[in-house]
Amino acid sequence: MLELRDLTLGIGELTLVEGLNLQLRAGQLHVIIGPNGTGKTSLLRALFGELPLTCGEVHLRGTSMTRHTLPTWRQGIGYMPQNTQLDLDLSALEVVVLGRLQRLSMRLSDDDLEAALAALQALDIAHLADRPVHTLSGGQRQMVLFAQVLLRQPQLMLLDEPVSALDLKHQMQLMEHLKTQTAEQAWISVAVLHDLNLAAQFADQLIVLGDGRLQAFGPPAQVLSSELIHSLYHVPVDVHHDLDGQPYIRTLRAPRPAPRERLRA
Ligand SMILES: Nc1ncnc2c1ncn2[C@@H]1O[C@H](COP(=O)(O)OP(=O)(O)OP(=O)(O)O)[C@@H](O)[C@H]1O
Ligand SMILES: [Mg+2]
Repeated sequence: MLELRDLTLGIGELTLVEGLNLQLRAGQLHVIIGPNGTGKTSLLRALFGELPLTCGEVHLRGTSMTRHTLPTWRQGIGYMPQNTQLDLDLSALEVVVLGRLQRLSMRLSDDDLEAALAALQALDIAHLADRPVHTLSGGQRQMVLFAQVLLRQPQLMLLDEPVSALDLKHQMQLMEHLKTQTAEQAWISVAVLHDLNLAAQFADQLIVLGDGRLQAFGPPAQVLSSELIHSLYHVPVDVHHDLDGQPYIRTLRAPRPAPRERLRA
């Protein structure tokens, strides 16, 4: 379990998120949603130990995150930051193998290489293995970076907008893979998504951030309502439910004035 106890985050004078209490369970995919600038990235950075906590505590499977535990703490984490650049003179396969960095000795083992190739194959991007990463498209780079974090076999997976550059097929592929592996390997997975329908489809638990605090936490069917979404984004929406009770969201456009009224305005 990952436990956040009374967590407050800030940068300089600015308080981003206050009084966050959460318990995230192994085998579950948690999706963070919330408007731009509400502290989603800052929360992931704090859980990775990159942004100091203003106050509060974080515990992962009984270990508390402190200055002393930080090096080992990070080893158990697969962290994929938002908008990563890859201006490296390395092939896609080499970048994926870097996911095993702590375990690499002077030479790569066959096992490391096989695991890296298997990760590329599982994501249907084995054909990119020998391509220099700086020649890949944005979406291809994002898939390669996801393969890299998979290779860490993390206890805790922190993914910041992992599908932001992906087409529909690759979004589904990445999310399916993440969901299945999270359940099978008992990872604690946390992903930031802006696509509310994708979040509704894949999240076991939604973490809703807004206005500097936790607005809601729970399964999408319990959490997602038109009132909540409107209060977060100030956009009118209808929330419908399919036969399984899974919510899906349709945005509504404000009615436009008739052309003659527009001319008069
Ligand atoms: N290094 C920094 N210095 C000053 N302010 C910062 C810094 N990093 C982030 N912020 C501010 O903290 C707030 C939260 O930023 P954060 O990146 O966590 O938001 P976010 O929820 O991930 O947004 P987005 O959906 O746009 O990615 C924003 O107002 C941002 O401008
Ligand atoms: Mg962000």
